[in-house]
Amino acid sequence: MRKKIIAGNWKMNYTLSQAEEFVTSIVKQINVDDIDVVLCPNFVSLDRVYDLICQTNVKLGAQNVHYEDKGAYTGETSIDMLISAGVEYCIVGHSERRQYFNETDEIVNKKVKKIIEKDLKAILCVGETLEQRNNNEMFKVVEDQLVKDLKDITKEQIKRNIIIAYEPIWAIGTGVTATSMQAQEMCKFIRSTIAKMYNENIAENIRIQYGGSVKASNAKELLSMEDIDGALVGGASLTNDFVAIVTVSYTHL
Ligand code: 13P
Repeated sequence: MRKKIIAGNWKMNYTLSQAEEFVTSIVKQINVDDIDVVLCPNFVSLDRVYDLICQTNVKLGAQNVHYEDKGAYTGETSIDMLISAGVEYCIVGHSERRQYFNETDEIVNKKVKKIIEKDLKAILCVGETLEQRNNNEMFKVVEDQLVKDLKDITKEQIKRNIIIAYEPIWAIGTGVTATSMQAQEMCKFIRSTIAKMYNENIAENIRIQYGGSVKASNAKELLSMEDIDGALVGGASLTNDFVAIVTVSYTHL
């Protein structure tokens, strides 16, 4: 049985005081132990959010990391800085970073390696554009991302440190959710690709999230699909909907 994992990607939202107010209001209700719950605030709020969740089962995640340890990289954040703030998970390869900040698969791969080196957990995002889906290229695109982003990652490392998030770009922030069948189909494909790259046992155990307009109203259906082991939630993670999504994941599934 794969343990479900619900992560909230706040993106560039909430100031320190807003983060504090929001987490204070939901923390009791998302403190569960049957599933993993991860909050990924902006860097500025990491330390404050950690203070509010450190006595609970809720974990802290970052939205990005630099692949170098330290040095003259103005504006960047190192993995040791994240660790010092209490971070255990790190989102990597999000489509917004690929699209707006020119993150290539090579850069994503370097970041994944850095996260593994420090024994954090990477939430590796993959997914196709609408154009790629319309051209029926989505499987090829996602397979290509997996092969490049996980280059040189060993069996032990993928088992211990990697969670995959399937986020179709056309479903992110658009209100258009992939149907549960579309999401299931791709998550199953991702699992079979991992089986080809590694082995059946690793594929069977790796956790695959779906992300893209997940809301309280569609979470139950998506999360009841065989190959969907959790959700990476954007907009809805900024509201009480996140509590409802967490609740659905451990009470109804
Ligand atoms: P939305 O839930 O706002 O569509 O965002 C999804 C996402 O990008 C999570 O990483």
